[in-house]
Amino acid sequence: MRRSVIKGTGRYIPPHLVTNDDLAKIIDTTDEWIQQRTGIKQRYWIEPGSVTGSSDLALEASKKAMDKAGWKPEDIDLIIFATLSPDIFFPGSGVFLQTKLGLDSTPALDIRQQCTGFLYGITTADAYIRAGIADRVLVVGAEVHSTGLDKTDRGRDVTVIFGDGAGAACIEVCESDEEIGIIGHALHADGKYAESLMLELPASRYSPERLTKEMMVDGREYPKMDGSRIFKLAVKKLPEVTHEILEKTGYTINDLDMIIPHQANLRINEFYLQKLGLPPEKMFNNIQKYGNTTAGSIPIALDEAIELGKIDTSKDLVLLSALGAGLTWGAVLYKFS
Ligand SMILES: CC(C)(COP(=O)(O)OP(=O)(O)OC[C@H]1O[C@@H](n2cnc3c(N)ncnc32)[C@H](O)[C@@H]1OP(=O)(O)O)[C@@H](O)C(=O)NCCC(=O)NCCS
Repeated sequence: MRRSVIKGTGRYIPPHLVTNDDLAKIIDTTDEWIQQRTGIKQRYWIEPGSVTGSSDLALEASKKAMDKAGWKPEDIDLIIFATLSPDIFFPGSGVFLQTKLGLDSTPALDIRQQCTGFLYGITTADAYIRAGIADRVLVVGAEVHSTGLDKTDRGRDVTVIFGDGAGAACIEVCESDEEIGIIGHALHADGKYAESLMLELPASRYSPERLTKEMMVDGREYPKMDGSRIFKLAVKKLPEVTHEILEKTGYTINDLDMIIPHQANLRINEFYLQKLGLPPEKMFNNIQKYGNTTAGSIPIALDEAIELGKIDTSKDLVLLSALGAGLTWGAVLYKFS
């Protein structure tokens, strides 16, 4: 039976460190507030003044993942690029990554599912592989948030949360009768919450122009978030989707060796773990160092957890889960072998 396994992971974090104290110099916030509400101590942003798109960060993460997988660019059958901060409005970042990898005909698919983007991406990769359409899929989640944040007091709730970064995974076909690799997915969306977390402008729905100076007066070109609504939805839906995927695949909560959740807020993840009744060592968090890197957060955390030896890549059962803008949420269950 055709199954999908992770052959290599990689991450890239840009070098420009921004601490909470650095932010407190430009907006009305404190290190204490940020750490208490979110767990974040610092994040990395691209070098101010540089021309660095999501695809540039993705390229570095992809090269590391491909080195570990033993892939050359020409081995890739499909590129799946998850981001909410594409290099430009269109085309998507997938084609920029493709050309930076030195390729000129490999298909590239962009996924706009925000924090759940990487999960939608690997689920799509799994479907392509199981259907026999592809043998090797490069899935990348990458974000450059820092150039699109409102760095005034008006945007402080959102601006302190986000960091730039990229993570990648090389997903490859494996013929096996054993239940290994990607063994289950559960993806969801509920569009009625679309405006609870959004970046509205430029918006093609507005005529005659999608972006005018008048529209920008209220800062509608910056992300807006109903933080407490998202928080409440996250602590409800993340445990729900975890139980759903376990039920679907016939595993129990105690079979899980590790949870790699999206890194939106350390408090959300602590509540989530508490609701599952699992001890702290069953969850890996690194938001303290990187902030919320949206589509990048799960592959970055997965790569780091593997590197730190938190996952036994010969046998562990690992749950990846996320909730974010859309509203989108979901989980993927993965068995290392
Ligand atoms: C954003 C978040 C940290 C805010 O925490 P919160 O406890 O909900 O805080 P609130 O929004 O209720 O604001 C509380 C107060 O802090 C203030 N505040 C907001 N941001 C602040 C900041 N960076 N520094 C200092 N004070 C801040 C607010 O103005 C408000 O002040 P007020 O009580 O005088 O009106 C939290 O809601 C959150 O993490 N939500 C989920 C985010 C998420 O998962 N997003 C998905 C990402 S993909």
